[in-house]
Amino acid sequence: MTFRLLIADDEKNIREGLAAALEMEGHEVVTAADGGEGWLRFEKGDIDLVITDLRMPGMSGEEFQRKVTAASPGIPVIILTGHGTVENAVAAMRNGAYDFLTKPVNLDHLSMLVKRALANHELSLKHQNLKEELARSNQLKTMIGSSAAMRHVFDMVSRAAPARASILITGESGVGKELVADAIHELSPRKGKPLIKVHCAAIPDTLIESELFGHEKGAFTGALSRRRGRFELAHEGTLFLDEIGEIDQSIQIKLLRVLQERKFERVGGEETIESDVRIVAATNRDLKAEIEKGTFREDLYFRLNVVNIHVPPLRERKDDLPLLISAFLREFSRENGKRIDGFDEKARAVFYRYDWPGNVRELRNCVESAVVMAKGSVITEADLPPTIKAGSDEMWIRIPLLSTMEEAERIIIRDTLDRFKGNKSKAAEALGLGRKTLHRKLAGQNDMEETDDAE
Ligand SMILES: Nc1ncnc2c1ncn2[C@@H]1O[C@H](COP(=O)(O)OP(=O)(O)OP(=O)(O)O)[C@@H](O)[C@H]1O
Ligand SMILES: [Mg+2]
Repeated sequence: MTFRLLIADDEKNIREGLAAALEMEGHEVVTAADGGEGWLRFEKGDIDLVITDLRMPGMSGEEFQRKVTAASPGIPVIILTGHGTVENAVAAMRNGAYDFLTKPVNLDHLSMLVKRALANHELSLKHQNLKEELARSNQLKTMIGSSAAMRHVFDMVSRAAPARASILITGESGVGKELVADAIHELSPRKGKPLIKVHCAAIPDTLIESELFGHEKGAFTGALSRRRGRFELAHEGTLFLDEIGEIDQSIQIKLLRVLQERKFERVGGEETIESDVRIVAATNRDLKAEIEKGTFREDLYFRLNVVNIHVPPLRERKDDLPLLISAFLREFSRENGKRIDGFDEKARAVFYRYDWPGNVRELRNCVESAVVMAKGSVITEADLPPTIKAGSDEMWIRIPLLSTMEEAERIIIRDTLDRFKGNKSKAAEALGLGRKTLHRKLAGQNDMEETDDAE
């Protein structure tokens, strides 16, 4: 990556000498004869580092540095200082300058300083991403599963990871798509390079383009300084586009171009940037249906879906429950400082009966809540969140012991009707009765109630 440096010095020989030396090092350099000219140039927004003399006619170096730091706090400013101005240089550092050098400038020293400042600058840009990544990696990394379905997923991951081909991960919410993406990166030769994640649904349409491709200063209201996008940050690494089904058509076209040509421009910029990125995307939507509806581009779909890894819902792989539950039990027992040995029979039955619409995420939350609620060392049905119990109750009919057949029939019919929201045809079918028979039984029950009331 080439960086653009700005040198401001009123002595022509100095600024041109330094410019030539830094250009030899592979940097792009622009120059200015005083602070005012420097500031005008800086405001264009494409400068990565500033080198400035202190005493200049017009706007002084101090003022120039203060303006630069205020406008773009991340951009390093190196101060050049003559004999009489070392104290001012130190003051400038207190005001946020990166470092200072005394004249005559030692070129080796300057070159080292520039290199270090740029590396730091680059690092701080990646810092935010890194922090997000770390926060996640602490809880993730290990994917648990022993079902045939998950073994198939693991096999796909290990076969597809080493290549550069785009991967589309599909599956309901909470099945572990993000864990799959992590595993792909870890098992790829790009491990050690950045894994950058973009949560497409969480970013407003108006911002996603600049989030992905970056922007130049002033590209839109609020673009106070130039910013690198996720494609640049993910260079040589992996870019995870989560919830890809949510992105707007106009961005779909731009994504398609990057996937095809591996080139893009920052928003409001003209420079074409090349980036070597492996794309992993995920969605819980049915993209084929979105294509039919005309809301997702088919050509983009083909580019993303070179390899498809489908993670099945938890209800289709209940074999994974024991391993997952015991891993989560261990995790949350430790976290809450409790000793929990396991579940009693009834509690375990609730876990198996429930069909987990929120998949592994919901399971994890339930185990956490049960651990927190548990009074003893064994989790009982009473410790479980009502949602999963209610879910299981719906599947059962409770008939009090010593009920008569007539009473039992009444309860069965009532609950079945409730289950089908009062739809008599569906209830009759489920009960194995003709519609008329059901009507007769209902009428009989009403008669009974009336007589009951009359008595
Ligand atoms: N196989 C697994 N082993 C251990 N933990 C898992 C597994 N699958 C999912 N999880 C956990 O379940 C939670 C949800 O997983 P993840 O965020 O990867 O789901 P997702 O498919 O990306 O969901 P969404 O579509 O809602 O984003 C996370 O806390 C994750 O650690
Ligand atoms: Mg996810």
